[in-house]
Amino acid sequence: MSAGPTVPIMSVQAEFDAWANSGKDRGMEKRHWHTAKHALARMPVEQGDSVLDLGTGSGYALRALRDTREIGRGIGLDGAPKMVHNAREYTDDDHIEYVVGDFHDLPIETDSIDHVWSMEAFYYAQQPLAALREIARVLAPGGTFYCAVNFFAESVHTHEWQEFVDIEMQLWEKATYRERFREAGLFVAEQDTIPDRETEIPPAETFPTDSFDSREAMVERYREHGTLLTVGVAPE
Ligand SMILES: C[S@@+](CC[C@H](N)C(=O)[O-])C[C@H]1O[C@@H](n2cnc3c(N)ncnc32)[C@H](O)[C@@H]1O
Repeated sequence: MSAGPTVPIMSVQAEFDAWANSGKDRGMEKRHWHTAKHALARMPVEQGDSVLDLGTGSGYALRALRDTREIGRGIGLDGAPKMVHNAREYTDDDHIEYVVGDFHDLPIETDSIDHVWSMEAFYYAQQPLAALREIARVLAPGGTFYCAVNFFAESVHTHEWQEFVDIEMQLWEKATYRERFREAGLFVAEQDTIPDRETEIPPAETFPTDSFDSREAMVERYREHGTLLTVGVAPE
């Protein structure tokens, strides 16, 4: 729909189709739900609203919003066809559709969406400002973008994730999220971190583990930094 830039979406397909094929889509759903449910609960979604989920993965966020808020239309977009295939398999609801697409060129009418949601996906955008402009374009006036990420500059124990993923990940600071949202034409209504209180943190004597050198590091990652939520609002 837009004249957005062409991006190497093939790498997204290759990486995340493999994740979907190995069941990682459901694994992410389980882990991300620890904080996603709190962020979703804050969204000002009303009965009948339309919600676009960017990088939908298993599609769980839209199913939850249907169950709890009776959204009128959910569109889950993902660049990995296998993720979309699985999300469709997990969902039996005529009000929800899943589509293959790219953050940089959304197949969505201008000013047509009430709310955009994205969990642990936005930082994969290769041209994040262009992606934000696309989000601003499709949002109806007064519509919101709830952007949740666990990978961000202040959360130092997440930085090593880049080593395990074959796509460049945008390691932005909290302030950069706010600045880029504004640059794309969105007001920043809120920014906050949501602690993950559910991931189990073992006793100190079990460290180091494969993922953390010390218990303090794991506490910092989950209980202190958790998920960064930045909320943008489209101008009226
Ligand atoms: C880490 S997963 C998160 C999935 C889900 N939101 C969750 O919370 O479990 C990131 C998802 O974003 C998708 N993605 C990454 N870059 C994308 C892009 N440029 N366009 C569309 N989808 C993309 C991937 O295919 C993947 O399914």
